[in-house]
Amino acid sequence: MFTEEIEKLKKREDAVILAHYYVDGAVQAAADFVGDSFYLAKAAAQTDKSTIVFCGVRFMGESAKILNPQRRVLLPDASADCPMAHMADAEQIARLRAEVSDLAVVCYINSSAALKALSDVCVTSSNAVKIVSSLPNKNILFIPDENLGNFVRARVPGKTFYFSGGYCPAHASVLSSDIESERSAHPAAEVLTHPECRADVCAASDFVGSTAEIVAYAEQSSRSEFIVCTEPGVLYELERRCPGKRFYPVAPVCADMKKITPESVVRCLERGEYAVELEEKAAAAARRPLERMLELGSRK
Ligand code: 13P
Ligand code: SF4
Repeated sequence: MFTEEIEKLKKREDAVILAHYYVDGAVQAAADFVGDSFYLAKAAAQTDKSTIVFCGVRFMGESAKILNPQRRVLLPDASADCPMAHMADAEQIARLRAEVSDLAVVCYINSSAALKALSDVCVTSSNAVKIVSSLPNKNILFIPDENLGNFVRARVPGKTFYFSGGYCPAHASVLSSDIESERSAHPAAEVLTHPECRADVCAASDFVGSTAEIVAYAEQSSRSEFIVCTEPGVLYELERRCPGKRFYPVAPVCADMKKITPESVVRCLERGEYAVELEEKAAAAARRPLERMLELGSRK
Protein backbone atom coordinates (compact mmCIF):
# COMPACT_ATOMS: atom_id res chain seq x y z
CA MET A 1 0.00 0.00 0.00
CA PHE A 2 2.79 2.40 1.01
CA THR A 3 4.80 1.32 -2.00
CA GLU A 4 1.97 2.35 -4.38
CA GLU A 5 1.48 5.69 -2.65
CA ILE A 6 5.21 6.35 -2.67
CA GLU A 7 5.48 5.41 -6.38
CA LYS A 8 2.74 7.93 -7.26
CA LEU A 9 4.33 10.72 -5.23
CA LYS A 10 7.78 9.93 -6.60
CA LYS A 11 6.52 10.53 -10.15
CA ARG A 12 4.69 13.70 -9.15
CA GLU A 13 7.77 15.12 -7.44
CA ASP A 14 10.37 13.79 -9.95
CA ALA A 15 12.09 12.16 -6.98
CA VAL A 16 14.55 9.35 -6.40
CA ILE A 17 14.61 7.53 -3.04
CA LEU A 18 17.91 6.46 -1.52
CA ALA A 19 17.90 4.27 1.60
CA HIS A 20 20.65 3.00 3.88
CA TYR A 21 20.66 -0.66 4.97
CA TYR A 22 19.91 0.41 8.57
CA VAL A 23 16.44 1.89 7.95
CA ASP A 24 13.23 -0.06 8.37
CA GLY A 25 12.78 -2.94 5.85
CA ALA A 26 9.52 -1.45 4.50
CA VAL A 27 11.39 1.75 3.64
CA GLN A 28 14.21 -0.21 1.95
CA ALA A 29 11.53 -2.03 -0.09
CA ALA A 30 10.17 1.28 -1.42
CA ALA A 31 13.58 2.77 -2.31
CA ASP A 32 15.22 3.02 -5.76
CA PHE A 33 18.74 2.57 -4.38
CA VAL A 34 19.63 0.75 -1.16
CA GLY A 35 23.19 0.36 0.00
CA ASP A 36 26.10 1.37 2.21
CA SER A 37 27.32 4.95 2.59
CA PHE A 38 29.79 4.84 -0.31
CA TYR A 39 27.28 3.36 -2.76
CA LEU A 40 24.66 5.92 -1.75
CA ALA A 41 27.10 8.84 -2.05
CA LYS A 42 27.90 7.69 -5.61
CA ALA A 43 24.20 7.23 -6.42
CA ALA A 44 23.47 10.74 -5.10
CA ALA A 45 26.26 12.20 -7.24
CA GLN A 46 24.86 10.57 -10.39
CA THR A 47 21.10 11.11 -10.21
CA ASP A 48 19.24 13.18 -12.80
CA LYS A 49 16.08 13.61 -10.68
CA SER A 50 15.29 17.06 -9.33
CA THR A 51 14.50 15.75 -5.82
CA ILE A 52 16.49 13.27 -3.70
CA VAL A 53 14.73 11.74 -0.68
CA PHE A 54 17.45 10.44 1.63
CA CYS A 55 16.21 7.74 3.99
CA GLY A 56 18.99 7.83 6.53
CA VAL A 57 20.52 10.24 9.03
CA ARG A 58 21.33 13.93 8.51
CA PHE A 59 24.97 13.59 7.42
CA MET A 60 23.82 11.39 4.50
CA GLY A 61 21.31 14.00 3.32
CA GLU A 62 23.91 16.75 3.78
CA SER A 63 26.44 14.82 1.67
CA ALA A 64 23.82 14.38 -1.07
CA LYS A 65 23.06 18.14 -0.97
CA ILE A 66 26.77 19.08 -1.01
CA LEU A 67 27.21 16.96 -4.14
CA ASN A 68 23.97 18.32 -5.69
CA PRO A 69 23.61 21.98 -4.73
CA GLN A 70 21.07 22.52 -7.54
CA ARG A 71 18.75 19.69 -6.47
CA ARG A 72 16.24 19.53 -3.63
CA VAL A 73 17.31 17.02 -0.94
CA LEU A 74 14.65 15.93 1.56
CA LEU A 75 15.03 14.11 4.87
CA PRO A 76 11.87 12.28 6.06
CA ASP A 77 12.75 13.12 9.69
CA ALA A 78 14.69 16.30 10.44
CA SER A 79 15.76 15.03 13.86
CA ALA A 80 17.42 11.83 12.58
CA ASP A 81 21.06 12.63 13.26
CA CYS A 82 24.16 10.50 13.88
CA PRO A 83 25.60 11.40 17.30
CA MET A 84 29.11 10.48 16.13
CA ALA A 85 28.89 13.05 13.33
CA HIS A 86 29.72 15.80 15.86
CA MET A 87 32.48 14.05 17.84
CA ALA A 88 35.45 16.17 16.75
CA ASP A 89 36.16 19.85 17.07
CA ALA A 90 37.54 22.66 14.98
CA GLU A 91 40.05 23.72 17.65
CA GLN A 92 41.74 20.32 17.83
CA ILE A 93 41.95 20.17 14.04
CA ALA A 94 43.50 23.66 13.87
CA ARG A 95 45.95 22.87 16.70
CA LEU A 96 47.16 19.64 15.10
CA ARG A 97 47.47 21.31 11.69
CA ALA A 98 49.75 23.90 13.33
CA GLU A 99 51.78 21.38 15.38
CA VAL A 100 52.15 18.37 13.08
CA SER A 101 53.83 18.65 9.70
CA ASP A 102 52.78 16.56 6.68
CA LEU A 103 49.32 15.98 8.18
CA ALA A 104 46.18 14.91 6.30
CA VAL A 105 42.81 15.33 8.02
CA VAL A 106 40.77 12.27 7.04
CA CYS A 107 37.07 12.59 7.79
CA TYR A 108 34.72 9.63 8.01
CA ILE A 109 31.61 10.46 6.00
CA ASN A 110 29.63 10.02 9.26
CA SER A 111 30.36 13.65 10.14
CA SER A 112 28.70 17.06 9.99
CA ALA A 113 29.20 19.28 6.94
CA ALA A 114 31.16 21.66 9.21
CA LEU A 115 33.72 18.93 10.03
CA LYS A 116 33.99 17.84 6.39
CA ALA A 117 34.74 21.46 5.47
CA LEU A 118 37.83 21.36 7.72
CA SER A 119 39.15 18.12 6.20
CA ASP A 120 41.37 17.05 3.31
CA VAL A 121 39.50 13.94 2.26
CA CYS A 122 36.42 11.96 3.27
CA VAL A 123 36.23 8.17 3.56
CA THR A 124 33.55 5.57 4.22
CA SER A 125 34.03 2.23 5.93
CA SER A 126 34.35 0.47 2.57
CA ASN A 127 37.08 2.69 1.09
CA ALA A 128 38.97 4.05 4.16
CA VAL A 129 41.92 1.61 3.93
CA LYS A 130 42.30 2.17 0.18
CA ILE A 131 42.12 5.98 0.44
CA VAL A 132 44.39 6.39 3.48
CA SER A 133 46.97 4.04 1.84
CA SER A 134 46.96 6.24 -1.26
CA LEU A 135 47.67 9.48 0.65
CA PRO A 136 51.25 10.77 0.45
CA ASN A 137 51.09 12.17 4.01
CA LYS A 138 53.01 10.55 6.85
CA ASN A 139 50.61 11.79 9.55
CA ILE A 140 46.87 11.23 9.66
CA LEU A 141 44.28 12.90 11.88
CA PHE A 142 41.34 10.51 11.56
CA ILE A 143 38.01 12.02 12.68
CA PRO A 144 35.55 11.32 14.24
CA ASP A 145 35.48 7.49 14.63
CA GLU A 146 38.46 6.16 16.59
CA ASN A 147 37.41 2.51 16.14
CA LEU A 148 37.33 2.78 12.35
CA GLY A 149 40.57 4.80 12.57
CA ASN A 150 42.26 1.98 14.51
CA PHE A 151 40.98 -0.56 11.98
CA VAL A 152 42.62 1.51 9.21
CA ARG A 153 45.82 2.06 11.22
CA ALA A 154 46.28 -1.72 11.60
CA ARG A 155 46.11 -2.09 7.80
CA VAL A 156 48.16 0.93 6.73
CA PRO A 157 51.67 0.62 8.17
CA GLY A 158 54.21 3.45 8.19
CA LYS A 159 51.86 6.30 9.12
CA THR A 160 51.25 7.96 12.49
CA PHE A 161 47.59 8.35 13.47
CA TYR A 162 45.90 10.94 15.68
CA PHE A 163 42.25 10.68 16.76
CA SER A 164 39.43 12.85 18.08
CA GLY A 165 37.96 10.06 20.23
CA GLY A 166 34.55 9.73 18.57
CA TYR A 167 32.57 6.52 18.47
CA CYS A 168 29.23 5.09 17.37
CA PRO A 169 27.15 4.43 20.50
CA ALA A 170 25.44 1.41 18.89
CA HIS A 171 28.55 -0.36 17.55
CA ALA A 172 30.81 0.54 20.47
CA SER A 173 28.34 -1.05 22.90
CA VAL A 174 29.10 -4.54 21.52
CA LEU A 175 31.65 -6.32 23.74
CA SER A 176 33.89 -9.30 22.98
CA SER A 177 32.03 -11.19 25.74
CA ASP A 178 28.84 -10.79 23.60
CA ILE A 179 30.67 -12.48 20.71
CA GLU A 180 31.80 -15.31 22.99
CA SER A 181 28.28 -16.01 24.23
CA GLU A 182 26.81 -15.82 20.70
CA ARG A 183 29.51 -18.20 19.46
CA SER A 184 28.61 -20.74 22.19
CA ALA A 185 24.92 -20.44 21.29
CA HIS A 186 25.64 -20.83 17.53
CA PRO A 187 28.91 -22.76 17.17
CA ALA A 188 28.58 -23.19 13.37
CA ALA A 189 28.11 -19.47 12.73
CA GLU A 190 30.66 -17.03 11.31
CA VAL A 191 30.93 -13.61 12.99
CA LEU A 192 30.55 -10.62 10.62
CA THR A 193 31.44 -7.24 12.10
CA HIS A 194 31.40 -3.57 11.12
CA PRO A 195 34.72 -1.71 11.70
CA GLU A 196 32.93 0.82 13.94
CA CYS A 197 33.09 -1.92 16.60
CA ARG A 198 35.86 -2.01 19.21
CA ALA A 199 39.24 -3.48 18.19
CA ASP A 200 38.84 -6.57 20.42
CA VAL A 201 35.40 -7.26 18.87
CA CYS A 202 36.91 -6.96 15.36
CA ALA A 203 39.76 -9.28 16.41
CA ALA A 204 37.23 -11.88 17.67
CA SER A 205 35.38 -11.85 14.30
CA ASP A 206 35.74 -13.90 11.12
CA PHE A 207 35.13 -10.96 8.79
CA VAL A 208 35.18 -7.17 9.25
CA GLY A 209 33.74 -4.84 6.62
CA SER A 210 31.18 -2.20 5.67
CA THR A 211 27.50 -3.12 5.53
CA ALA A 212 27.72 -3.83 1.77
CA GLU A 213 30.84 -5.94 2.31
CA ILE A 214 29.08 -7.91 5.09
CA VAL A 215 26.16 -8.64 2.75
CA ALA A 216 28.52 -9.71 -0.08
CA TYR A 217 30.53 -11.91 2.31
CA ALA A 218 27.43 -13.71 3.66
CA GLU A 219 26.14 -14.25 0.14
CA GLN A 220 29.29 -16.04 -1.07
CA SER A 221 30.08 -17.94 2.17
CA SER A 222 29.45 -21.68 2.26
CA ARG A 223 28.27 -21.33 5.87
CA SER A 224 24.57 -21.03 6.61
CA GLU A 225 24.61 -19.18 9.97
CA PHE A 226 26.04 -15.78 10.84
CA ILE A 227 26.37 -13.62 13.94
CA VAL A 228 25.94 -10.05 12.75
CA CYS A 229 27.73 -7.24 14.62
CA THR A 230 26.25 -4.21 12.95
CA GLU A 231 22.92 -2.39 13.08
CA PRO A 232 20.19 -5.05 12.66
CA GLY A 233 18.42 -3.18 9.82
CA VAL A 234 20.93 -4.90 7.52
CA LEU A 235 19.15 -8.22 8.21
CA TYR A 236 16.46 -7.17 5.74
CA GLU A 237 18.99 -7.22 2.85
CA LEU A 238 20.86 -10.24 4.25
CA GLU A 239 17.68 -12.32 4.37
CA ARG A 240 16.55 -11.09 0.97
CA ARG A 241 19.87 -11.91 -0.69
CA CYS A 242 20.60 -15.15 1.23
CA PRO A 243 17.41 -17.22 1.39
CA GLY A 244 17.79 -20.22 3.70
CA LYS A 245 20.68 -18.69 5.70
CA ARG A 246 20.20 -17.59 9.31
CA PHE A 247 21.36 -14.37 10.91
CA TYR A 248 21.69 -13.55 14.61
CA PRO A 249 21.99 -9.81 15.37
CA VAL A 250 24.16 -8.66 18.29
CA ALA A 251 24.29 -4.85 18.04
CA PRO A 252 21.44 -2.63 19.28
CA VAL A 253 19.36 -0.62 16.80
CA CYS A 254 20.40 2.90 15.83
CA ALA A 255 17.50 4.95 17.23
CA ASP A 256 18.05 7.73 14.68
CA MET A 257 17.95 5.42 11.65
CA LYS A 258 14.71 3.95 12.99
CA LYS A 259 13.03 7.38 12.90
CA ILE A 260 12.62 6.88 9.13
CA THR A 261 9.28 5.12 8.68
CA PRO A 262 7.15 4.54 5.55
CA GLU A 263 4.70 7.18 6.90
CA SER A 264 7.49 9.75 7.22
CA VAL A 265 8.60 9.06 3.62
CA VAL A 266 5.05 9.61 2.32
CA ARG A 267 4.71 12.82 4.37
CA CYS A 268 8.08 14.02 3.15
CA LEU A 269 7.07 13.64 -0.51
CA GLU A 270 3.59 15.10 0.03
CA ARG A 271 4.76 18.22 1.86
CA GLY A 272 8.30 18.65 0.49
CA GLU A 273 9.78 18.46 4.01
CA TYR A 274 12.43 18.52 5.38
CA ALA A 275 14.73 20.21 2.87
CA VAL A 276 18.46 20.19 3.63
CA GLU A 277 19.76 23.77 3.38
CA LEU A 278 23.46 24.58 3.51
CA GLU A 279 25.18 27.89 3.14
CA GLU A 280 27.03 27.77 -0.25
CA LYS A 281 30.48 28.76 1.11
CA ALA A 282 30.35 25.98 3.75
CA ALA A 283 28.99 23.50 1.19
CA ALA A 284 31.79 24.34 -1.26
CA ALA A 285 34.41 23.70 1.43
CA ALA A 286 32.82 20.34 2.28
CA ARG A 287 32.47 19.39 -1.42
CA ARG A 288 36.24 19.25 -2.01
CA PRO A 289 36.97 16.32 0.41
CA LEU A 290 33.82 14.47 -0.69
CA GLU A 291 34.73 14.74 -4.38
CA ARG A 292 38.29 13.68 -3.57
CA MET A 293 36.81 10.58 -1.87
CA LEU A 294 34.70 9.77 -4.94
CA GLU A 295 37.77 10.15 -7.13
CA LEU A 296 40.25 8.17 -4.95
CA GLY A 297 37.63 5.57 -3.95
CA SER A 298 36.76 4.77 -7.55
CA ARG A 299 40.37 4.31 -8.76
CA LYS A 300 41.33 0.75 -9.72
P1 13P B 1 28.42 1.85 6.02
O1 13P B 1 29.53 2.69 5.48
O2 13P B 1 28.82 0.42 6.18
O3 13P B 1 27.19 2.04 5.26
O4 13P B 1 28.11 2.32 7.52
C1 13P B 1 27.39 3.46 7.80
C2 13P B 1 27.10 3.61 9.22
O5 13P B 1 26.44 4.52 9.64
C3 13P B 1 27.66 2.66 10.13
O6 13P B 1 27.20 2.93 11.41
FE1 SF4 C 1 25.73 6.96 13.50
FE2 SF4 C 1 26.12 4.62 14.66
FE3 SF4 C 1 23.69 5.25 13.79
FE4 SF4 C 1 25.68 4.69 12.04
S1 SF4 C 1 24.73 3.30 13.53
S2 SF4 C 1 24.24 6.40 11.93
S3 SF4 C 1 27.43 5.59 13.15
S4 SF4 C 1 24.84 6.28 15.46
